[in-house]
Amino acid sequence: MLAGRRIVLGVTGGIAAYKAAYLARRLVEAGAEVRSILTEAGSEFLGPQTLAAITGNPPIGSYFGEPDVSPHTNLARWADAIVIAPATTATIARLAGGISNDVLVGTVLAAQVPVVVAPAMHTEMWEHPSTRRNITTLEADGYVIVGPDAGALAGGDSGPGRLVEPEVIVAALDAALTGDLDGWSVVVSAGGTREAIDPVRYIGNRSSGKMGNAIATAAARRGATVTLVTSAAPPDERGIDVIPVESAQEMADAVWTAAKKADVAVMAAAVADFRPRDPGTAKLRRADGAPEIELEPTPDILAGVAAMEPRPFLIGFAAEAGSLDGAIAKATSKGVDLLVGNDVSRAGSGFGTDTNEVTVIEPDGTADSWPVMSKHEVADRLWDRIIEMRRQKGSL
Ligand SMILES: Cc1cc2nc3c(=O)[nH]c(=O)nc-3n(C[C@H](O)[C@H](O)[C@H](O)COP(=O)(O)O)c2cc1C
Repeated sequence: MLAGRRIVLGVTGGIAAYKAAYLARRLVEAGAEVRSILTEAGSEFLGPQTLAAITGNPPIGSYFGEPDVSPHTNLARWADAIVIAPATTATIARLAGGISNDVLVGTVLAAQVPVVVAPAMHTEMWEHPSTRRNITTLEADGYVIVGPDAGALAGGDSGPGRLVEPEVIVAALDAALTGDLDGWSVVVSAGGTREAIDPVRYIGNRSSGKMGNAIATAAARRGATVTLVTSAAPPDERGIDVIPVESAQEMADAVWTAAKKADVAVMAAAVADFRPRDPGTAKLRRADGAPEIELEPTPDILAGVAAMEPRPFLIGFAAEAGSLDGAIAKATSKGVDLLVGNDVSRAGSGFGTDTNEVTVIEPDGTADSWPVMSKHEVADRLWDRIIEMRRQKGSL
């Protein structure tokens, strides 16, 4: 599971920092790509050169003065997971408070990936009420806390507070990266199709592909094998098999092939309903006068998947301008398991935006309106819903 994964290793200022060198080595041996962040105090306990030599990349020590002008956001985007080992009381407190005045906490706050925290400190510090409170906060915020062990501590003391062994941290990281969509095969369509009028011009629509990209990205991050059939620019995310297409026909062919092997199909593309019957083979000329373009229906991709036997769990999207009545009608008639409707005429919803306000409609017409949220949040919530529904149907 760690092979090929991108791990940010945060090392903070405790005696146990020397063990982070072993941890970095274990991660590299497991096939992970490792970049490290060494806090100022951390660098008093472990040499930056050691981390650089083991990981192949010099550790980041600060927001400022690095070759990368925005190390926290770039590392956050790059990472599949973050592990902080050892984690001091000070770093734990900053994480719990969201105090991002160092590049490690800044990276964690900018990231949307699993974070494993391995505390190490003296027993009194571990048992202090403030540390107890902060650990409870981190657990509630979704951090994975591993350890500490009880045993010999620096200075001849003994008790809880000892950093767990690197192998235990690797196992925790491995488990954190095993997503809830592990083993699922998923096909997602995205973007707006382009139907040729002549070799130069097309009939298109305003879809940016952002919603479909967010759905594919979330699925890949949660462990699914993802095929993304898209006419738009795909996301910069590993583990997504991208099939670029242009027309509704190309999208239909690619989706129908992929859907045969898929557990779930999420059809988020805006597909043209009609296309020019006879696209010109040469560019139409103004001098020839306004052309009359006869249209014909395109293949109904959603209906094609719905008719498959057996068929994947099927989610359709309906972009409506104004009322969502059309989306409700589609949910009840199209043979989907779930339909996501959105009113693209609203601010913060629909084409090209980074946010969306959707209504999720079941085949019996039950509608659930979600508030405006980022397309990434919509995507994650949609996958949560799909998991729940597949469980109820007994297909999980
Ligand atoms: C010798 C020595 C050992 C330390 N060991 C620890 C430790 O194991 N755990 C801890 O929480 N703090 C320890 N500290 C205190 C931290 O280094 C200090 O709180 C520092 O500000 C942490 O900064 P950081 O979290 O940004 O790395 C130690 C300090 C010294 C001088």
